[in-house]
Amino acid sequence: MAFIERLCIEDYRGISDLKIDGLKHVNLIIGDNNCGKTSVLEAIQLLRTSGNLANIYRVARQRDALSVSNANSIFDSFICMFPRNNDGEMRLGLNGICNGQEISFVLTGKRGRILLDAKELDGNRFKTAEIPEGEVEAESFEGDITMAYGKSRKNGHININQYSSITGTPSSDQDQLNIVYVSPYEHLRGNIINRILRNETYKQVCIKALQLFDPDIEDLMIFRSDIGNRPVEYIRHKKLGDMPVSTYGDGLKKVLAISNAIAQAAGGILLFDEVETSIHRKYYDDIFRFTIKACKSFNVQLFVTTHSIEAIDGILTTQDYERQESEEAICVCTLKREGNDTFSRVLSGREVHENREAFGFEVRL
Ligand SMILES: Nc1ncnc2c1ncn2[C@@H]1O[C@H](COP(=O)(O)OP(=O)(O)OP(=O)(O)O)[C@@H](O)[C@H]1O
Ligand SMILES: [Mg+2]
Repeated sequence: MAFIERLCIEDYRGISDLKIDGLKHVNLIIGDNNCGKTSVLEAIQLLRTSGNLANIYRVARQRDALSVSNANSIFDSFICMFPRNNDGEMRLGLNGICNGQEISFVLTGKRGRILLDAKELDGNRFKTAEIPEGEVEAESFEGDITMAYGKSRKNGHININQYSSITGTPSSDQDQLNIVYVSPYEHLRGNIINRILRNETYKQVCIKALQLFDPDIEDLMIFRSDIGNRPVEYIRHKKLGDMPVSTYGDGLKKVLAISNAIAQAAGGILLFDEVETSIHRKYYDDIFRFTIKACKSFNVQLFVTTHSIEAIDGILTTQDYERQESEEAICVCTLKREGNDTFSRVLSGREVHENREAFGFEVRL
Protein backbone atom coordinates (compact mmCIF):
# COMPACT_ATOMS: atom_id res chain seq x y z
CA MET A 1 0.00 0.00 0.00
CA ALA A 2 1.17 3.55 -0.71
CA PHE A 3 0.80 5.94 2.18
CA ILE A 4 1.97 9.57 2.08
CA GLU A 5 2.53 10.85 5.62
CA ARG A 6 3.99 14.23 4.80
CA LEU A 7 3.92 16.48 1.77
CA CYS A 8 5.87 19.63 1.02
CA ILE A 9 5.13 21.52 -2.18
CA GLU A 10 8.08 23.80 -2.81
CA ASP A 11 6.96 25.24 -6.15
CA TYR A 12 3.90 24.33 -8.16
CA ARG A 13 1.54 26.81 -9.92
CA GLY A 14 0.44 29.34 -7.26
CA ILE A 15 1.89 27.34 -4.36
CA SER A 16 5.30 27.85 -2.80
CA ASP A 17 6.53 26.26 0.38
CA LEU A 18 3.35 24.55 1.55
CA LYS A 19 3.81 21.86 4.20
CA ILE A 20 1.14 19.34 5.16
CA ASP A 21 2.10 17.01 7.97
CA GLY A 22 0.14 14.25 9.67
CA LEU A 23 -1.67 12.91 6.62
CA LYS A 24 -3.97 9.94 7.27
CA HIS A 25 -5.82 7.30 5.27
CA VAL A 26 -8.52 9.86 4.47
CA ASN A 27 -7.47 13.47 3.87
CA LEU A 28 -9.89 16.32 3.35
CA ILE A 29 -8.38 19.32 1.54
CA ILE A 30 -10.68 22.29 1.97
CA GLY A 31 -10.66 26.06 1.62
CA ASP A 32 -11.82 28.98 -0.48
CA ASN A 33 -12.00 29.03 -4.27
CA ASN A 34 -8.53 29.56 -5.81
CA CYS A 35 -6.68 28.61 -2.61
CA GLY A 36 -4.84 25.74 -4.34
CA LYS A 37 -6.81 22.54 -3.60
CA THR A 38 -6.76 21.18 -7.15
CA SER A 39 -3.10 22.24 -7.43
CA VAL A 40 -2.27 20.03 -4.42
CA LEU A 41 -3.96 17.04 -6.09
CA GLU A 42 -2.10 17.72 -9.32
CA ALA A 43 1.25 18.05 -7.56
CA ILE A 44 0.75 14.69 -5.80
CA GLN A 45 0.46 13.05 -9.23
CA LEU A 46 4.00 14.15 -10.07
CA LEU A 47 5.08 11.65 -7.39
CA ARG A 48 4.13 8.65 -9.55
CA THR A 49 7.91 8.50 -10.12
CA SER A 50 7.74 6.61 -13.37
CA GLY A 51 10.23 8.92 -15.06
CA ASN A 52 7.67 8.91 -17.84
CA LEU A 53 7.39 12.38 -19.45
CA ALA A 54 3.88 11.51 -20.58
CA ASN A 55 2.85 11.58 -16.90
CA ILE A 56 4.08 15.17 -16.51
CA TYR A 57 2.24 16.22 -19.68
CA ARG A 58 -0.90 14.43 -18.51
CA VAL A 59 -0.83 16.43 -15.25
CA ALA A 60 -0.13 19.65 -17.18
CA ARG A 61 -3.06 18.95 -19.48
CA GLN A 62 -5.61 17.79 -16.90
CA ARG A 63 -7.45 21.10 -16.42
CA ASP A 64 -7.36 22.00 -20.09
CA ALA A 65 -8.64 18.56 -21.08
CA LEU A 66 -11.90 19.30 -19.24
CA SER A 67 -12.79 21.97 -21.77
CA VAL A 68 -13.88 20.74 -25.20
CA SER A 69 -13.08 24.09 -26.78
CA ASN A 70 -9.62 24.33 -25.23
CA ALA A 71 -7.03 25.54 -27.74
CA ASN A 72 -3.99 25.64 -25.49
CA SER A 73 -0.92 23.88 -26.82
CA ILE A 74 0.78 21.29 -24.64
CA PHE A 75 3.64 23.79 -24.35
CA ASP A 76 1.34 26.47 -22.87
CA SER A 77 -0.24 23.97 -20.45
CA PHE A 78 3.21 22.77 -19.40
CA ILE A 79 4.61 26.28 -18.84
CA CYS A 80 1.56 27.19 -16.71
CA MET A 81 2.58 24.58 -14.12
CA PHE A 82 5.59 26.71 -13.12
CA PRO A 83 5.04 29.54 -10.65
CA ARG A 84 4.56 32.81 -12.54
CA ASN A 85 6.42 35.03 -10.16
CA ASN A 86 9.92 33.72 -10.84
CA ASP A 87 12.55 35.28 -13.09
CA GLY A 88 15.19 33.32 -14.93
CA GLU A 89 15.37 29.67 -13.90
CA MET A 90 12.05 27.86 -13.70
CA ARG A 91 11.42 25.23 -11.06
CA LEU A 92 8.76 22.77 -9.94
CA GLY A 93 9.46 20.81 -6.80
CA LEU A 94 7.86 18.73 -4.13
CA ASN A 95 8.89 16.15 -1.59
CA GLY A 96 7.46 14.09 1.21
CA ILE A 97 7.51 10.89 3.16
CA CYS A 98 5.78 7.90 1.63
CA ASN A 99 5.77 4.50 3.36
CA GLY A 100 8.49 5.83 5.69
CA GLN A 101 10.78 6.72 2.77
CA GLU A 102 11.72 10.08 1.33
CA ILE A 103 10.10 10.85 -1.97
CA SER A 104 10.73 13.82 -4.24
CA PHE A 105 10.20 15.29 -7.68
CA VAL A 106 12.17 18.28 -8.99
CA LEU A 107 12.02 19.76 -12.48
CA THR A 108 14.23 22.71 -13.35
CA GLY A 109 14.99 24.40 -16.61
CA LYS A 110 15.03 27.52 -18.74
CA ARG A 111 12.79 29.03 -21.35
CA GLY A 112 14.35 30.15 -24.59
CA ARG A 113 13.88 30.34 -28.34
CA ILE A 114 15.03 27.78 -30.90
CA LEU A 115 14.95 27.42 -34.68
CA LEU A 116 13.01 24.50 -36.15
CA ASP A 117 12.75 23.13 -39.67
CA ALA A 118 9.23 24.11 -40.83
CA LYS A 119 8.97 21.01 -43.05
CA GLU A 120 9.17 18.73 -40.03
CA LEU A 121 6.34 20.45 -38.16
CA ASP A 122 2.68 19.52 -38.23
CA GLY A 123 1.02 22.10 -40.54
CA ASN A 124 -2.07 22.25 -38.31
CA ARG A 125 -0.06 23.87 -35.56
CA PHE A 126 0.60 27.11 -37.44
CA LYS A 127 -1.62 30.12 -36.78
CA THR A 128 -1.84 30.92 -40.49
CA ALA A 129 -2.97 28.53 -43.20
CA GLU A 130 0.29 29.14 -45.03
CA ILE A 131 3.12 26.89 -43.85
CA PRO A 132 6.34 28.92 -43.64
CA GLU A 133 9.44 27.97 -45.65
CA GLY A 134 12.79 27.12 -44.10
CA GLU A 135 13.27 27.63 -40.39
CA VAL A 136 10.74 28.94 -37.88
CA GLU A 137 11.53 30.42 -34.51
CA ALA A 138 9.81 28.71 -31.57
CA GLU A 139 9.47 29.28 -27.86
CA SER A 140 11.09 26.41 -26.02
CA PHE A 141 11.87 24.92 -22.64
CA GLU A 142 14.80 22.69 -21.77
CA GLY A 143 15.29 21.17 -18.36
CA ASP A 144 16.11 18.26 -16.08
CA ILE A 145 14.01 16.06 -13.86
CA THR A 146 15.23 14.38 -10.70
CA MET A 147 13.05 11.90 -8.90
CA ALA A 148 13.75 9.92 -5.77
CA TYR A 149 11.84 7.32 -3.81
CA GLY A 150 13.86 5.81 -0.96
CA LYS A 151 17.12 4.58 -2.48
CA SER A 152 15.80 4.57 -6.03
CA ARG A 153 16.76 7.60 -8.14
CA LYS A 154 15.72 8.56 -11.65
CA ASN A 155 16.89 11.42 -13.83
CA GLY A 156 15.40 12.65 -17.05
CA HIS A 157 15.79 15.40 -19.59
CA ILE A 158 12.94 17.38 -21.04
CA ASN A 159 12.81 19.36 -24.29
CA ILE A 160 9.56 20.92 -25.41
CA ASN A 161 8.62 23.76 -27.75
CA GLN A 162 5.47 25.55 -28.80
CA TYR A 163 4.95 23.20 -31.76
CA SER A 164 5.40 19.99 -29.74
CA SER A 165 2.62 17.47 -29.62
CA ILE A 166 2.33 14.90 -26.85
CA THR A 167 4.29 11.79 -27.64
CA GLY A 168 3.88 8.58 -25.75
CA THR A 169 0.96 7.50 -23.62
CA PRO A 170 1.27 7.45 -19.89
CA SER A 171 1.48 3.86 -18.74
CA SER A 172 0.64 3.12 -15.13
CA ASP A 173 2.67 -0.12 -15.42
CA GLN A 174 5.88 1.89 -15.13
CA ASP A 175 4.75 3.89 -12.10
CA GLN A 176 6.17 3.08 -8.70
CA LEU A 177 3.06 4.55 -7.10
CA ASN A 178 -0.45 3.94 -8.39
CA ILE A 179 -2.05 7.40 -8.20
CA VAL A 180 -5.51 7.96 -9.67
CA TYR A 181 -7.06 11.42 -10.13
CA VAL A 182 -10.82 11.92 -10.49
CA SER A 183 -11.89 15.34 -11.75
CA PRO A 184 -15.23 16.88 -10.67
CA TYR A 185 -16.61 15.87 -14.09
CA GLU A 186 -14.97 12.46 -14.58
CA HIS A 187 -18.37 10.77 -14.55
CA LEU A 188 -19.34 12.55 -17.78
CA ARG A 189 -16.48 11.00 -19.75
CA GLY A 190 -17.79 7.43 -19.76
CA ASN A 191 -15.62 4.36 -19.19
CA ILE A 192 -16.70 4.24 -15.55
CA ILE A 193 -17.59 0.60 -14.93
CA ASN A 194 -14.82 -1.56 -16.41
CA ARG A 195 -12.87 -1.85 -13.13
CA ILE A 196 -16.05 -2.61 -11.17
CA LEU A 197 -16.82 -5.57 -13.44
CA ARG A 198 -13.47 -7.22 -12.74
CA ASN A 199 -14.53 -8.24 -9.24
CA GLU A 200 -17.96 -9.86 -8.80
CA THR A 201 -18.17 -9.24 -5.03
CA TYR A 202 -17.29 -5.57 -5.47
CA LYS A 203 -19.75 -5.28 -8.35
CA GLN A 204 -22.55 -6.44 -6.03
CA VAL A 205 -21.49 -3.86 -3.39
CA CYS A 206 -21.54 -1.11 -6.06
CA ILE A 207 -24.99 -2.20 -7.30
CA LYS A 208 -26.22 -1.85 -3.70
CA ALA A 209 -24.90 1.74 -3.68
CA LEU A 210 -26.70 2.46 -6.98
CA GLN A 211 -29.92 1.07 -5.53
CA LEU A 212 -29.97 4.08 -3.19
CA PHE A 213 -30.90 6.07 -6.31
CA ASP A 214 -33.09 3.44 -7.92
CA PRO A 215 -33.98 0.16 -6.15
CA ASP A 216 -34.82 -1.49 -9.49
CA ILE A 217 -31.21 -1.47 -10.72
CA GLU A 218 -30.10 -5.09 -11.03
CA ASP A 219 -26.83 -5.37 -12.92
CA LEU A 220 -23.97 -3.64 -14.77
CA MET A 221 -22.51 -4.84 -18.03
CA ILE A 222 -20.57 -3.83 -21.14
CA PHE A 223 -21.97 -4.57 -24.62
CA ARG A 224 -20.28 -4.00 -27.98
CA SER A 225 -21.87 -1.32 -30.15
CA ASP A 226 -23.05 -2.16 -33.68
CA ILE A 227 -20.96 0.74 -34.92
CA GLY A 228 -17.26 0.05 -34.67
CA ASN A 229 -17.67 -2.73 -32.09
CA ARG A 230 -16.93 -0.17 -29.37
CA PRO A 231 -17.72 -0.94 -25.70
CA VAL A 232 -20.93 0.62 -24.35
CA GLU A 233 -21.75 0.56 -20.65
CA TYR A 234 -25.22 -0.66 -19.67
CA ILE A 235 -27.39 -0.92 -16.58
CA ARG A 236 -29.93 -3.74 -16.27
CA HIS A 237 -33.15 -2.43 -14.72
CA LYS A 238 -36.12 -4.48 -13.51
CA LYS A 239 -38.67 -2.31 -15.34
CA LEU A 240 -36.71 -0.52 -18.08
CA GLY A 241 -34.61 -3.47 -19.24
CA ASP A 242 -31.05 -2.83 -20.45
CA MET A 243 -30.35 0.89 -20.83
CA PRO A 244 -27.01 2.65 -21.55
CA VAL A 245 -25.44 4.24 -18.45
CA SER A 246 -25.63 7.58 -20.31
CA THR A 247 -29.45 7.58 -19.94
CA TYR A 248 -29.18 7.76 -16.13
CA GLY A 249 -28.70 10.85 -13.97
CA ASP A 250 -25.37 12.42 -13.08
CA GLY A 251 -25.51 11.45 -9.39
CA LEU A 252 -25.64 7.78 -10.29
CA LYS A 253 -22.83 8.21 -12.83
CA LYS A 254 -20.77 9.99 -10.21
CA VAL A 255 -21.18 7.03 -7.84
CA LEU A 256 -20.06 4.71 -10.64
CA ALA A 257 -17.03 6.93 -11.34
CA ILE A 258 -16.15 6.92 -7.62
CA SER A 259 -16.54 3.13 -7.37
CA ASN A 260 -14.55 2.49 -10.53
CA ALA A 261 -11.70 4.77 -9.42
CA ILE A 262 -11.45 3.05 -6.01
CA ALA A 263 -10.87 -0.31 -7.72
CA GLN A 264 -8.40 1.32 -10.13
CA ALA A 265 -6.43 2.85 -7.24
CA ALA A 266 -6.07 -0.49 -5.39
CA GLY A 267 -2.96 -0.41 -3.20
CA GLY A 268 -2.31 3.22 -4.13
CA ILE A 269 -3.55 6.77 -3.80
CA LEU A 270 -6.89 8.17 -4.92
CA LEU A 271 -7.49 11.88 -5.48
CA PHE A 272 -11.13 13.03 -5.66
CA ASP A 273 -11.50 16.64 -6.72
CA GLU A 274 -14.83 18.07 -5.47
CA VAL A 275 -16.13 14.68 -4.45
CA GLU A 276 -19.70 15.89 -3.96
CA THR A 277 -20.43 17.25 -7.47
CA SER A 278 -23.73 15.94 -8.89
CA ILE A 279 -24.75 14.03 -5.75
CA HIS A 280 -27.79 15.22 -3.79
CA ARG A 281 -27.00 16.07 -0.18
CA LYS A 282 -29.40 13.42 1.17
CA TYR A 283 -27.17 10.62 -0.19
CA TYR A 284 -23.89 11.96 1.25
CA ASP A 285 -23.84 9.86 4.45
CA ASP A 286 -24.49 6.58 2.63
CA ILE A 287 -22.21 7.29 -0.33
CA PHE A 288 -19.29 8.45 1.82
CA ARG A 289 -19.71 5.46 4.14
CA PHE A 290 -19.52 3.21 1.08
CA THR A 291 -16.52 5.18 -0.31
CA ILE A 292 -14.45 5.03 2.87
CA LYS A 293 -15.23 1.36 3.46
CA ALA A 294 -14.32 0.47 -0.14
CA CYS A 295 -11.05 2.47 0.08
CA LYS A 296 -10.17 0.54 3.22
CA SER A 297 -10.78 -2.83 1.62
CA PHE A 298 -8.79 -1.86 -1.51
CA ASN A 299 -5.95 -0.39 0.62
CA VAL A 300 -6.34 3.05 -0.89
CA GLN A 301 -5.18 6.32 0.68
CA LEU A 302 -7.74 8.97 -0.12
CA PHE A 303 -7.39 12.71 -0.76
CA VAL A 304 -10.65 14.58 -1.20
CA THR A 305 -11.34 18.21 -1.96
CA THR A 306 -14.76 19.64 -1.23
CA HIS A 307 -16.60 22.94 -0.79
CA SER A 308 -19.47 21.33 1.05
CA ILE A 309 -19.79 21.37 4.84
CA GLU A 310 -22.40 18.59 4.54
CA ALA A 311 -19.86 16.46 2.65
CA ILE A 312 -17.25 17.14 5.39
CA ASP A 313 -19.78 16.13 8.09
CA GLY A 314 -20.80 13.09 6.04
CA ILE A 315 -17.18 11.92 5.83
CA LEU A 316 -16.52 12.59 9.54
CA THR A 317 -19.61 10.64 10.63
CA THR A 318 -18.18 7.52 8.98
CA GLN A 319 -15.91 7.34 12.06
CA ASP A 320 -16.92 6.12 15.50
CA TYR A 321 -15.67 9.13 17.48
CA GLU A 322 -17.80 8.18 20.50
CA ARG A 323 -15.31 5.37 21.14
CA GLN A 324 -12.45 7.28 22.79
CA GLU A 325 -9.72 4.83 21.79
CA SER A 326 -10.61 4.58 18.08
CA GLU A 327 -7.58 5.20 15.85
CA GLU A 328 -7.67 8.45 13.85
CA ALA A 329 -8.16 7.82 10.14
CA ILE A 330 -9.01 11.35 8.97
CA CYS A 331 -6.90 14.47 8.48
CA VAL A 332 -8.63 17.77 7.73
CA CYS A 333 -6.38 20.28 6.01
CA THR A 334 -7.65 23.80 5.39
CA LEU A 335 -5.69 25.87 2.88
CA LYS A 336 -5.51 29.63 2.93
CA ARG A 337 -3.99 31.92 0.34
CA GLU A 338 -2.50 35.28 1.37
CA GLY A 339 -0.66 37.17 -1.35
CA ASN A 340 1.90 34.77 -2.77
CA ASP A 341 1.80 32.49 0.26
CA THR A 342 -0.34 29.42 0.89
CA PHE A 343 -0.81 28.26 4.47
CA SER A 344 -2.23 25.00 5.80
CA ARG A 345 -4.00 24.22 9.05
CA VAL A 346 -4.15 20.54 9.87
CA LEU A 347 -6.65 19.15 12.35
CA SER A 348 -7.63 15.60 13.17
CA GLY A 349 -11.05 14.36 12.12
CA ARG A 350 -11.96 13.96 15.80
CA GLU A 351 -11.06 17.61 16.58
CA VAL A 352 -13.19 18.86 13.71
CA HIS A 353 -16.08 16.53 14.55
CA GLU A 354 -16.13 17.52 18.24
CA ASN A 355 -15.85 21.23 17.48
CA ARG A 356 -18.56 21.06 14.85
CA GLU A 357 -20.89 19.33 17.32
CA ALA A 358 -20.15 21.74 20.19
CA PHE A 359 -19.65 25.08 18.38
CA GLY A 360 -20.76 24.59 14.75
CA PHE A 361 -17.07 25.20 13.91
CA GLU A 362 -16.63 26.54 10.34
CA VAL A 363 -13.58 24.48 9.38
CA ARG A 364 -13.49 25.76 5.77
CA LEU A 365 -12.20 29.20 6.82
N1 LIG B 1 1.58 29.22 -12.79
C1 LIG B 1 0.94 29.87 -11.83
N2 LIG B 1 1.60 30.81 -11.10
C2 LIG B 1 0.98 31.48 -10.09
N3 LIG B 1 -0.31 31.26 -9.74
C3 LIG B 1 -0.99 30.32 -10.41
C4 LIG B 1 -0.42 29.58 -11.49
N4 LIG B 1 -1.34 28.72 -11.98
C5 LIG B 1 -2.46 28.91 -11.23
N5 LIG B 1 -2.26 29.87 -10.30
C6 LIG B 1 -3.23 30.35 -9.31
O1 LIG B 1 -3.75 29.25 -8.60
C7 LIG B 1 -5.09 29.50 -8.23
C8 LIG B 1 -5.95 28.34 -8.64
O2 LIG B 1 -5.57 27.21 -7.89
P1 LIG B 1 -6.49 25.92 -7.81
O3 LIG B 1 -7.18 25.71 -9.09
O4 LIG B 1 -5.63 24.85 -7.29
O5 LIG B 1 -7.55 26.39 -6.71
P2 LIG B 1 -8.75 25.56 -6.03
O6 LIG B 1 -8.60 25.69 -4.56
O7 LIG B 1 -8.82 24.20 -6.61
O8 LIG B 1 -10.01 26.42 -6.50
P3 LIG B 1 -11.53 25.95 -6.71
O9 LIG B 1 -12.07 25.64 -5.36
O10 LIG B 1 -12.19 27.13 -7.30
O11 LIG B 1 -11.50 24.77 -7.63
C9 LIG B 1 -5.51 30.78 -8.91
O12 LIG B 1 -5.45 31.84 -7.96
C10 LIG B 1 -4.44 30.97 -9.97
O13 LIG B 1 -4.20 32.32 -10.25
MG1 LIG C 1 -10.26 23.18 -7.73
